[in-house]
Amino acid sequence: MRNEKDRGKFTGGIGFVLAAAGSAVGLGNIWRFPYLAAKDNGGVFILCYIILALTFGFAMLTTEIAIGRKTKQGPLTAYGRIHPKWKGIGFFAWLVPIIILPYYCSIGGWVLKYLVTFITNKGALAADDGYFTGFISSEVSPIVFMVVFLLFTGIVVFFGVDKGIEKMSKFLMPILLILIIGISVYSITISHTGEDGITRTGIDGLKVYLIPDFTGMNFHDWVTVIIDALGQLFFSISVAMGIMIAYGSYVPKEVNLMKSINNIEIFDTIVALLAGLMIIPAVVVFMGKKGMTQGPGLMFVSLPKVFDAMGSIGVIIGIVFFLMVAFAAITSAVSVMEAIVSSIMDRFQLGRKKSVVIVTIYALIFGIVVCLGYNKLYFEVKLPNGTTGQILDIMDYISNNCLMPFVALLTCILIGWVVKPKTVIDEVKEGGYKFGRKTLYIIMIKFVAPIMLLILLLRSIGLLSI
Ligand code: PHE
Repeated sequence: MRNEKDRGKFTGGIGFVLAAAGSAVGLGNIWRFPYLAAKDNGGVFILCYIILALTFGFAMLTTEIAIGRKTKQGPLTAYGRIHPKWKGIGFFAWLVPIIILPYYCSIGGWVLKYLVTFITNKGALAADDGYFTGFISSEVSPIVFMVVFLLFTGIVVFFGVDKGIEKMSKFLMPILLILIIGISVYSITISHTGEDGITRTGIDGLKVYLIPDFTGMNFHDWVTVIIDALGQLFFSISVAMGIMIAYGSYVPKEVNLMKSINNIEIFDTIVALLAGLMIIPAVVVFMGKKGMTQGPGLMFVSLPKVFDAMGSIGVIIGIVFFLMVAFAAITSAVSVMEAIVSSIMDRFQLGRKKSVVIVTIYALIFGIVVCLGYNKLYFEVKLPNGTTGQILDIMDYISNNCLMPFVALLTCILIGWVVKPKTVIDEVKEGGYKFGRKTLYIIMIKFVAPIMLLILLLRSIGLLSI
């Protein structure tokens, strides 16, 4: 068996927290959270999200990090160490990052492309309607940017846990926080008179974001808000993709796990809230509420228009924004790759460097397939959850909507009912630390989380329509 020294280790609690927060803070915080908040009644969504983060999120994050630290294994082999008959979950937990890595790198490439566009002062072009579609449907450029992004990711993972992942996170995460605070403050102070003659200010936008409006909310609306918040949280804290198990396996025994978990959650939630603070007022001021679309549309279509409308300062804000997003994306991509690499190292007793090369070549091939999905390999499929998509969307659907709730559900059953919550609680208490919300944890992992996950899963695969 590979000894601890070979596997690598974080140097301490701070390194671990920043690396895990680096994974958690990603495109989901920036392009999905603000959109959902705007769609789902602002403050109502935020309230649900925070409550779920403190209960469901806390339980899932604690479970995975504890499994990692207890077994000192990557996701592929960790579950088998917890209970030999349940080792199969490990395979699925490993499959998720394998599916995600190629398409995450393609999207990372889009971010780099926009960063370069703004740096070279061509931001005005990006505000044109057809710019984004023109770019992703071109044959060479998306592949080039994807490769650059993938190589960055590969190099960091190549250098290992402390010298690669931890060093990068300690450097990038504080900068990311400063940049996002800076843009948020600017965003609230702007105002603009639109073609309709109406002047909107950042504060008007802030109201759209924060003030809940309960009037006319029926049962179905509440269910939608809660399920949206749950799905978002689940994706945002990077659970059920093997990542937190892999990172947990590098945490030294003397680190206080509970404190680290709280800090990771706080960091992730603050960045999500700030992302809303930064994006919603800006979009509302310049485009009205209709500019708030989800996913690529928001970041690559609406925001460039907003930056363009800001005039000359928009160029600088654009650069800072896409730099910040690039940081968020790279720290997440690194964690996805690490989950795959750590599993290969543990299961096949291969060295880190060889494992990284294999995974990079794999991601390169499939990343190219994803890029070609917008031109040479273009086709559309109707997915069971009612959306239509091409290769990237299909991969996203299989990993996020099907496999992740499935893996998380089985993890809850394993820990809650088979080996019992004590397994996780004892690991957290290791070193004489306290496990603060113990009763809450037990109730969540045994009853509440599995039921919520089952609903999420059934809804995703189209078997339940609430
Ligand atoms: N947690 C990340 C986010 O919120 C998502 C993510 C991380 C996805 C790592 C894949 C891999 O954006």
